[in-house]
Amino acid sequence: MPYQNSKDRIVIIDFGSQVTKLIARRIREFGVFSEIITLKDLHKIKHYKNIKGIILSGGPSTVTKKNYPSLSKEIFLKKIPILGICYGLQLISKIFGGSIKSLKKKREFGRAILYKKRRSLLTNNFFSKKNISVWMSHQDAVSKLPIGFHTVASTKDSKLTIIENTKDKIYGVQFHPEVTHTENGKKIIKNFIFSICKAKKSWRIKSELKRLINEIKETVKKDKVICALSGGVDSSVVALLINRAIKKNLVCIMVDTGLLRKDEFKHSFYTFKKKYKLNVKVVNAKNLYFKKLKNVSDPEKKRKIIGNLFIKIFEKEAKKIKGIKYLAQGTLYPDIIESRSVTGSHSSKIKSHHNVGGLPKKMKLKLIEPLKEFFKDEVRVLGKSLSLLNKIKDKHPFPGPGLGIRIIGSVTPKKIKILQEADFIYINELVKYKLYNKIWQAYAGLLPIKTVGVMGDSRTYEYTCLLRAVVSEDGMTADYFNFPKDFLDKISNKIVNGVPGINRVVYDITSKPPSTIELE
Ligand code: XMP
Repeated sequence: MPYQNSKDRIVIIDFGSQVTKLIARRIREFGVFSEIITLKDLHKIKHYKNIKGIILSGGPSTVTKKNYPSLSKEIFLKKIPILGICYGLQLISKIFGGSIKSLKKKREFGRAILYKKRRSLLTNNFFSKKNISVWMSHQDAVSKLPIGFHTVASTKDSKLTIIENTKDKIYGVQFHPEVTHTENGKKIIKNFIFSICKAKKSWRIKSELKRLINEIKETVKKDKVICALSGGVDSSVVALLINRAIKKNLVCIMVDTGLLRKDEFKHSFYTFKKKYKLNVKVVNAKNLYFKKLKNVSDPEKKRKIIGNLFIKIFEKEAKKIKGIKYLAQGTLYPDIIESRSVTGSHSSKIKSHHNVGGLPKKMKLKLIEPLKEFFKDEVRVLGKSLSLLNKIKDKHPFPGPGLGIRIIGSVTPKKIKILQEADFIYINELVKYKLYNKIWQAYAGLLPIKTVGVMGDSRTYEYTCLLRAVVSEDGMTADYFNFPKDFLDKISNKIVNGVPGINRVVYDITSKPPSTIELE
């Protein structure tokens, strides 16, 4: 069911850009609800009230070919302000009789300098200095203005970089204002939603809590719900939320895979059972996991073994409980956006993600996904309203297969122990130096390559510990974190001196792409 709300909203029509979801995030950060829909679902917006504006996203298609994703002109006649971004701008231009050329040799990827040509509501306070640097990613450009439009700004290679038709409230930008690489990009979005669309700030994630709890109550009634609780942000918020709605009719299952951080399982169990008084069932599956993972070093095989075993254990435990009708999952909004396709094409699979996706079908349970409208930051705000401990609320993302994919090659209890100790030192120091919350994700990994070292007067021959720390918006792209040298010195010293089995520490300085955040 589409999210129904009488509050002002901005609808984003997704043409497949990698950064579409950032547009929605930015708008929500300004306190206005926004939703991403695909062309296939366009008909649904007829039933929406209070659409204050429409944004056409970027995308990989080109209007210079015979077939390209498009819209009927009808949408422009509704007197709702429209902003086209990149492909969105090209599509608007095409529909209104402009010309679009393929730049071929002069493709603009990365930064470009924007020059102001004309005052516009869209660029109010945007040109804070003469030349603004914007982020481009296109090979087509508008070469002839569509009828009724004016040029607001240009770059060297694409003259019609911002265009507008103020009479019909249609705007287009060739660059991506939603990415942080565009200077003042947020101003464009702010001007569009407030000055042009006249949307009101009426969306507060905190006030969504009551609605979510009521919806769960109405859906579940007196039935029972089961959920897998890992102690990560998403499953913790799901569990607390559902518990608020139906109390003991929620059964949480915690599986100890042996692949979590040091003491993490113990702490999570204690917190949820003793502090929040949830109905928690624990399964100790450490030995089973180690047995199944013995001598397996292929990353994909490891991921599959860990994922499938989880499903098997969870299913077995669930069967022991009578009267379960629903399975709750912490699916987030980005998961929903990423799993649908705009153009029919699918992106290539880099890694098989461990999730419990196979469960609902197998167990014939109905699914409830109370977080499916929210971004991770918003889930954290919900967590705060549910009195979730800061320690859990602000936790870095942790992959389903856990330390299993942070040890290169085969996993053994001994290697897990070594890694847990090194990781423990690293994460504690990050917290101590107030760096933890500046980093999107950090962890220690174990490279089981032995190298020679010298400690005291003795030769050592031990493993290497890899430290990873990245900054990111959503995990799709990431940059490595620039630690002060002192901090790296200290960590290296502490790990080598404190963890038997490690005699070398390296810091990973690759971004994603070309690397990934995890090691396997
Ligand atoms: P990569 O390594 O693909 O990771 O750059 C991107 C983000 O996804 C997390 N990740 C996972 N999360 N199950 C999860 O729930 C998984 O199998 C999985 N693999 C990677 C990773 O930690 C990072 O935040």
